[in-house]
Amino acid sequence: MGSIYRHDVLVIGSGAAGLSLALKLAPSARIAVLSKGSLTAANTFYAQGGVAAVMDEGDSLDAHVIDTLTAGAGLCHEDAVRFTVENGPQAIHWLIEQGVAFTTQDGEANYHLTKEGGHSHRRVIHAADSTGLAISNTLIDRVKSNANIELFENRVAVDLVTSAKLTGSQKNDRVVGAYVLDNLTDKIDVFHAKFVVLATGGASKAYLYTSNPDVATGDGLAMAWRVGCRAANMEFNQFHPTCLYHTQGSSFLITEAIRGEGGKLQLPNGESFIEKFDERAELAPRDIVARAIDHEMKRLGIDCVYLDISHKPADFIRNHFPTVYERCLGLGIDITKDPIPVVPAAHYTCGGIVTDLHGQTDIAGLYAIGETAFTGLHGANRMASNSLLECFVFGFAAAKQINDELGSINEPPEIPRWDESQVTDSDEDVVISHNWDELRRLMWDYVGIVRTDKRLQRARNRIELLQQEILEYYSNYKISNDLLELRNLVQVSELIVRCAQLRKESRGLHYTLDYPSKVEPSRDSIIYPDV
Ligand code: FAD
Ligand code: SIN
Repeated sequence: MGSIYRHDVLVIGSGAAGLSLALKLAPSARIAVLSKGSLTAANTFYAQGGVAAVMDEGDSLDAHVIDTLTAGAGLCHEDAVRFTVENGPQAIHWLIEQGVAFTTQDGEANYHLTKEGGHSHRRVIHAADSTGLAISNTLIDRVKSNANIELFENRVAVDLVTSAKLTGSQKNDRVVGAYVLDNLTDKIDVFHAKFVVLATGGASKAYLYTSNPDVATGDGLAMAWRVGCRAANMEFNQFHPTCLYHTQGSSFLITEAIRGEGGKLQLPNGESFIEKFDERAELAPRDIVARAIDHEMKRLGIDCVYLDISHKPADFIRNHFPTVYERCLGLGIDITKDPIPVVPAAHYTCGGIVTDLHGQTDIAGLYAIGETAFTGLHGANRMASNSLLECFVFGFAAAKQINDELGSINEPPEIPRWDESQVTDSDEDVVISHNWDELRRLMWDYVGIVRTDKRLQRARNRIELLQQEILEYYSNYKISNDLLELRNLVQVSELIVRCAQLRKESRGLHYTLDYPSKVEPSRDSIIYPDV
């Protein structure tokens, strides 16, 4: 039998969002932080480019706001953008206080700022090209030495428990905890908590080709949906323009900062092409660059395009991009001399669980922060390096609100133990691996960079069949991490397609041949669960 735990706050996720919230709350609450694998198994750990914030005198909050609104293609919520941008510098100072060693130039506190797509100024603070590693390692050290934070690795949240689920009455519904699979013992633990924070990251694993690590299966989104939270703008899955194209280099991102520092996109014959699509060329927002590359690859029938930074001094390249340099060199590509083969791949989930500016979801006591949330910040296309910023700003905002309410919330009621009496051990795990592959391929083929009504409907039909099969499997067999992830991914894929079908226009990351223009006024795609 699994264990039973009680904390004030259960934080599901050990990325930038979860760890920063936990550290902010730790002085006043007993906190549990869960991670599906090790604490570093998170998108945060792999972040390369940096964190966007106004840190330079020549820059301004208004400029950061305007750039974000422009990249978001008319769909950002201006209040969320302003809130995030205004709290940006403070978030960076907090990270510096925690000990994150951002790259400096000419002196100790003079931070080097790089540039990425959509930014009109240099405003991306970074730790060379492994910003996520520097942030993760620093915050993990901090949480490990904090007596109020209990860390649980290899724990997979299965489902949230709400008072409505316990009593059958929707009145005053409130989250009271979660069932959690211990991946090492296969037992199901029960976590009771006054507040639950979903900091579970994005869902780009729904696609066959992605820059994301394995954990990005949209678990928080699916769990929140199952207990009655709205989801919004799921059609805006961001494809990063430049992931390494190599048989042994799958999932490896080539940071946009390379383009920010002068890297050029080229066709196989060395010809440049991006200026035909946008006058901002390599530094146009991501949706435009990814679509241009996709267009050229399809037009010419080529497997990849190239990103060339070799015109810069070799020392500059090695100092600024040591991670990319080493990784490529290991595959026989010396980026100080050779262009890098690149392709677009699924990278970021712009939509998510609907929250307010404190991360509060539709269910009392349940918060969602970071990539899993929909705050209105990113609109139809996230601007580079605004994601980590959002994690910190909303992590702090949610921590403050939880802290204010903590004293007035009673201990949660007793949650019954997980009932396994009706299920047996699986005898055909091939169902999971087959459906997993089929789902990710159909999402890539039918719900990718360029969509049509027909492709979306095909995807929807297949997803429905997969859902039936997966639900049946889930009801009959003992759960495993793979089964849970598949169940969540198919749910999130349904939400992506449903949102895409609602949008009868092309905007930002959603491009459909059937409706190639924008329709004004712009609107969010908000969908409601049937609970
Ligand atoms: P994550 O960091 O993804 O953390 C999610 C956590 O939730 C993990 O600990 C995971 O184990 C846990 N989890 C998930 N499901 C469960 C479950 N069921 N039970 C228990 N735990 C669970 N953004 C920028 O702003 N700047 C960049 O330079 C940048 N570079 C990037 C480079 C790469 C390669 C990638 C993939 C992304 C990059 N991004 C960047 C995006 C950014 O890293 C992410 O959006 C951000 O880190 C998300 O943080 P998070 O805390 O919301 O989620
Ligand atoms: C990158 O370094 O290109 C990723 C930046 C981001 O996703 O914000």
